[in-house]
Amino acid sequence: MSATAAMRDEPLLVVDGLCTHFPTRAGVVKAVDGVSFSLRRGEILGLVGESGSGKSITGYSILGLVDPPGRVVAGSIRYDGVELTTLPGEAMRRLRGNRISMVVQDPMATLNPVLRIDRQMTETILAHDDVGEALALERARDALLRVGIASPDERLRAYPHQFSGGMRQRVAIAIALINRPDLVIADEPTTALDVTIQGQILHEVQTLARETGTALVWITHDLTVVAGLADRVCVMYAGRIVEQGTTAQVLESPAHPYTRGLLDSVPARNARGARLRQIPGMPPAPLGLPDGCAFRERCPRADEACVADPPMRGTPGDPDRGARCHHPLDDAP
Ligand SMILES: Nc1ncnc2c1ncn2[C@@H]1O[C@H](COP(=O)(O)OP(=O)(O)O)[C@@H](O)[C@H]1O
Ligand code: SF4
Ligand SMILES: [Mg+2]
Repeated sequence: MSATAAMRDEPLLVVDGLCTHFPTRAGVVKAVDGVSFSLRRGEILGLVGESGSGKSITGYSILGLVDPPGRVVAGSIRYDGVELTTLPGEAMRRLRGNRISMVVQDPMATLNPVLRIDRQMTETILAHDDVGEALALERARDALLRVGIASPDERLRAYPHQFSGGMRQRVAIAIALINRPDLVIADEPTTALDVTIQGQILHEVQTLARETGTALVWITHDLTVVAGLADRVCVMYAGRIVEQGTTAQVLESPAHPYTRGLLDSVPARNARGARLRQIPGMPPAPLGLPDGCAFRERCPRADEACVADPPMRGTPGDPDRGARCHHPLDDAP
């Protein structure tokens, strides 16, 4: 392999042993506690877990946007060969403006309510590329079409409040992708939308990411969302990744009892009329984690071995496949 080919094969993002903690009066909240994963160029990774598992803080850590007193206290985040955890603020801001962008659940967090959509979009383009107003407007129009917005000329002249929630989110996604960033971190952007709109947007984003070669980290609490979207899945629980693999591996032959529990609580996978099985108990309080496996108090397979912290056990010959469990399910490959 030539040196350039080797560089191309190098993952775009390598997160290794990331720990992001929040000191509070009651103790240290270990929101992210030893997270490792990597992402190749153009790849779509689903980051899945219940509320409070540390998905958003993982995303904010990568973007350098953790609110103090929260702080990355250990681990490394290497983006295209550059260590982000020690990158000066100004360089990090440039990276966020040009090569990494984020989409959040509430599009109004990123859209300016008093600016017309055409201005918001062309400003984003012109801040990045000196292409002139006319070409910027043409690109903005094209970007709206690509996220499924019909009659874009009319839409460009509108203000954000004149759009439905689904349309606003489409605009926010169009803006996040308009400068063809290498990486987009999407934090539950379709969670508030109805299922049909959500499905359309997922499909459009996937197509767009494939076309532009943009890598995506798609954060969601909903396993059904990643099914048709992601190449690979990481399942998070209590600040850690407990299972990872290709989407087919994780959804069709989960190794971790928590993933199994999540799958069993998805309606579509159950026969009509069958009762859904919920995972018993609640996600653990961030300051009240049990010793050993954090899933221990809810796990049907727990035994005395689980009082010891299970390491991530990889699969020989397949470093991207693994589970953090002493007794992985035997239908695992
Ligand atoms: N500012 C903060 N101060 C203290 N704890 C926080 C703060 N922000 C998040 N956390 C805690 O970090 C954990 C992970 O949060 P988060 O990443 O938002 O979860 P998710 O996105 O998976 O729902 C939660 O236990 C949450 O309570
Ligand atoms: S380590 Fe034990 S408690 Fe944890 S998921 Fe595996 S079997 Fe369950
Ligand atoms: Mg979140």
